[in-house]
Amino acid sequence: MHDFAKVLYLLATALFIFGIKQLSKVSTARRGNATAGLGMLLAIVTTLIAPGEGDQVIHLSWPLIVAGILIGGVLGTWMARRVAMTGMPEMVALFNGFGGLASLLVALAVFWGDYLAAGDLAAAPSAEAEGLGLTGPVVWSAAVILSILVGGVTLTGSLVAMAKLMGKVGDKLLPARHLITLGLLAAAVLFGWLGGWAAAGGWAAFALILLTIVSFALGVHLVLPIGGADMPVVISLLNSYSGIAASMAGFVIGNSLLIVAGALVGASGLILTDQMCKGMNRTLLHVLVGGFGGDSVSEDARDYSNIRSYSPEDAAADLQLADKVIIVPGYGMAVSQAQHVVKELGDLLMARGCEVKYAIHSVAGRMPGHMNVLLAEADVPHDLLFPTEEINGDFKSADVAVVVGANDVVNPAAIEDPNSKIAGMPILHVHEARTVHMIKRSLSPGYAGIKNPLFERDNCFMCFGDGKEFLQGVVDELKNA
Ligand code: TAP
Repeated sequence: MHDFAKVLYLLATALFIFGIKQLSKVSTARRGNATAGLGMLLAIVTTLIAPGEGDQVIHLSWPLIVAGILIGGVLGTWMARRVAMTGMPEMVALFNGFGGLASLLVALAVFWGDYLAAGDLAAAPSAEAEGLGLTGPVVWSAAVILSILVGGVTLTGSLVAMAKLMGKVGDKLLPARHLITLGLLAAAVLFGWLGGWAAAGGWAAFALILLTIVSFALGVHLVLPIGGADMPVVISLLNSYSGIAASMAGFVIGNSLLIVAGALVGASGLILTDQMCKGMNRTLLHVLVGGFGGDSVSEDARDYSNIRSYSPEDAAADLQLADKVIIVPGYGMAVSQAQHVVKELGDLLMARGCEVKYAIHSVAGRMPGHMNVLLAEADVPHDLLFPTEEINGDFKSADVAVVVGANDVVNPAAIEDPNSKIAGMPILHVHEARTVHMIKRSLSPGYAGIKNPLFERDNCFMCFGDGKEFLQGVVDELKNA
């Protein structure tokens, strides 16, 4: 590879890293997306114009490349424009799956090319890989095997996760599932060893086809029993897997940039998975073993007494007298698309001299940063947004906590009932505010499927209705007051 191309690869790597850094702050997140996108564009263009030199040259098929760009570009644009914000996790799952599939196909294609030329996988490391001094035959075989295995698991695991989020597949617990997992893993090791090292000729090829089938089965089998509520965590983990598979594919074709980009995705996906687990007070092992599902609703989940309700007029009258208001958005705000009227309410209150803050729980909604994205869309200043640990001390001095479509993240059972399904999960302490306005359509539970004792507290007033409609009523009242 030309030195100039190597410099461009280095620049692309730097853009990826800066992009991720910028993504970690709301104020710079959009720029981060663009920065990383620019890095990817640079990486693709560099790969196309400098595809190796001497005997390491890669012969490009331009019609195929243009067709790939066109089909992928049109499909991607169409899907991104069409998808609703609430459907984002499904789309991310699908993208992860495609990432896994791409790595799997790269490994199989290179194996077939090099295998046909050399007759033995272990004796056929790609010229590019050897030329870069990245790998020897043993490592190269391992990279091919892992690309296929991790790529296959990522593909089918992501498709099952997507189907679960769409409600098309329920949680399925097979009786001997751990034994089946062990059996599939053992089969993967056997076929990987045969395909990568022990067998030669058609048997090696056959073993890799069997490895592909086992990896597909493993992906389905591992994700199927995991509870619906844990799907976003699983998707984040699968995102990490797709990075690992891409990194392995980088070793297979000897592309240093793909190795780095894959490793970045793998590592950041793992960090995000860890943060989500902490936000729900669950270990990754608990998530993977399953049991906490969106489908399971506890028997007493709708069993309430002492419920008081507020009309939009009542809520507005309360807010008129408030000096300090904390707005707490949750999944229902996303469903009702209430973010713009939430911002209007905040602005109105501030114009009246009231202090307004927004409390953002790390797992409010259905995907990481869900509330931040929606509020940014409505131009809520990000310096008014506070995470759980920073805002919790403020609730005691707040006159009103306006809870818009949040439920689990404000459920005091998490800190008061050690037997609760969500015991230990950090929550927003809205129950400590003088008054709580709980805006939701009914007494239905949130994703955890459990009763929320907050509804029965003396300082809590249920504001029944669609989030957007109810808040519009409150805003109209305040404007007319
Ligand atoms: P939830 O506990 O899921 O509660 C959302 C509430 O919104 C529901 O109780 C629902 O009640 C209400 N709602 C639905 N549509 C509405 C509408 N149009 N207008 C007003 N309200 C509406 O939400 P949350 O408090 O944001 O908690 C998130 C949950 O998802 C947690 O259990 C969390 O662990 C889980 N989870 C999140 C993530 C991420 S990364 N965000 C990842 C994994 C799991 P009604 O039906 O009565 O209206």
